[in-house]
Amino acid sequence: MKRLPHVLSLVLASTVAVAAPAATATADDAGQCKITYSVPNDWGSGFTGAVSITNTSGMAIDGWTLTFSFPGNQRITNGWGATWTQTSATAMSWNRTIAPGATLSGLGFNASYSGANSPPAEFRLNGQLCNAPTPGTKPLRDLAAARGKYFGSAMTVPELEDTQNRELTAREAGVITVGNEMKWEATEPSRGQFTFTGGDRIWAGAVAAGQRVRGHTLVWHNQTPQWVQDLPANQLRQAMLDHIAAVAGHYRGKVFAWDVVNEAFEDNGTRRQSFWQQKLGDGYLAEAFRAARAADPDAKLYYNDYNTDGLGAKSDAVYELVKSFKQQGVPIDGVGFQSHLLLGGVPASMRQNLQRFADLGVDVAITELDIRMTLPADSVKLATQAADYGAVARACLAVTRCVGITTWSLSDKHSWIPSVFPGQGAALPFDETFAPKPAYRALAGAFS
Ligand code: G3I
Repeated sequence: MKRLPHVLSLVLASTVAVAAPAATATADDAGQCKITYSVPNDWGSGFTGAVSITNTSGMAIDGWTLTFSFPGNQRITNGWGATWTQTSATAMSWNRTIAPGATLSGLGFNASYSGANSPPAEFRLNGQLCNAPTPGTKPLRDLAAARGKYFGSAMTVPELEDTQNRELTAREAGVITVGNEMKWEATEPSRGQFTFTGGDRIWAGAVAAGQRVRGHTLVWHNQTPQWVQDLPANQLRQAMLDHIAAVAGHYRGKVFAWDVVNEAFEDNGTRRQSFWQQKLGDGYLAEAFRAARAADPDAKLYYNDYNTDGLGAKSDAVYELVKSFKQQGVPIDGVGFQSHLLLGGVPASMRQNLQRFADLGVDVAITELDIRMTLPADSVKLATQAADYGAVARACLAVTRCVGITTWSLSDKHSWIPSVFPGQGAALPFDETFAPKPAYRALAGAFS
C-alpha cells in the first residue's frame, strides 16, 4: 500500500464532532484514513466502543491493523468486526479490503473501566497516523502572515518532545513563546548559576521550523526561586539587574521580543503586592525595562498581563504605566494581552482597548490566548468557542499595531488549564488528538 502522510479527524460522537477543514486537499496531504470513534453506551463500570474507518487515501487498502492505546485503565473484554487486542484491531478476511473513499463500520467492542473514560490519543492504520493535523488549508502562520500578523504558540520541552505536537506546531505557528524554560527558576536556579539548556532547545527547535521566538519572562512573581524572594531589597535589585543582563544577554539577537515584566497588577488596578513590589516599590518596572534594553537593544520589550483584554480597572492601570513610561523615556515597545478567556467571555471592548494602547505608540499582541469551557465539550460549546476565537482574531486584525496572536499551547493535550482549573479545559484550537476544532477553522476564516 502506498504510504501517505498523516491525517484524519477523530469524532468523539458522544461529545465532540471535529472534522478536517474543508477545501483544497491535494493527493499528498489527503492522508490515508479517517477514524470515527464513539461510545454509544457507557454504564459507569464499562462501555461499548464503536469504530469506523474511512479510506481517504485514494488507493485501496488490502489488509489492515488499527493500533491505539487507551490513556486510562480500559480493558477490552470482547469485540466484533475485527480481531481485537488491548491495543489493536486487525481485519477479518471478509473486511480486509477498503476501497478508496469507502467507510468500514460495524467495528466495536465492550470494555470495562474505572475513572475517566477518555478516548485513545491517536489511531494508526498500518502504522500510519490517522489523525494528523489540518489537511486542505493553508497553515495559520501563512494565513496570518498574509494579513501582516503572526500566528504563534507557546512551546515547552515536553511539547517539543511530543512528535505530533512538534510537527503540528511547526506547521501552524510562525512564532514560538517559550512556555517555561526561560523563566527564572529554569535559568538561574541558584544565584549566578545560569542554565539555558531548555530555552536553547526550544530556540533551536523554533529555528529549525523557521519560527521566530518570543522570550518569556524576565521578572515575575511566579516560578522565581526562593533564594530570590528571600533577598533583602538592595540585593534583590542587583539580582534582578544581573538576571536580566545574563538571560537577555544570552538570547541577544535570538529572540525578537521579551516579556520583560509579567503580571505586576492586581485585577483592581493596584500594584500586585509581590515580593518585587514590597521590597523594591513602584520603580522596579522601569529599572527592569532599562536593563533589558541594555542587554538586548534590538528586542521588542513588552509588559505582559492577563485580565487586561478589555477596558477596565486593570487595563486602565497598565495604560497609565505605559503612558508614563513613554513620557519618561522608559524603553517599552509593546504590551502583551494574555487573553486567558472564558467561553463567551471575549470583552466587547477588546478592539477599542488594543487600539488605545497602540495609540500610545506601542505594539500590542495577544500573547497567551486560550478560551476554556466546563468539560465535557459539546458541539454547542465548541461553536461558541469558535465564535470567540474569531472575535479575538478580528480584534487584532482591526488594529494596525496588533502584531500577532499566540495561543498558550496549540493542542488541548498540553494545555495548562485542566491542572489549574479542575473540570475545565478544551481551551485550544486543536483537541487532545491534534484534530482541528471549530476554533481552528474560525481562526483560519478570520485570517483568510
Ligand atoms: O518542573 C517541575 C517538575 O520538576 C515537577 O515534577 C512537576 C510536578 O508538578 O512540576 C514541574 O513544574 C511545573 C512547571 O509548570 C513546569 O512544568 C509547575 O508545577 C507548574 O505550576 C508550572 O506551571 C506553569 C505556570 O505558568 C506556572 O505559573 C505552566 O506550565 C505554564 O504554562 C504557565 O504559564 C503562565 C505564563 O507563564 C504567564 N501567564 C499565565 C500562564 C498560565 O498560568
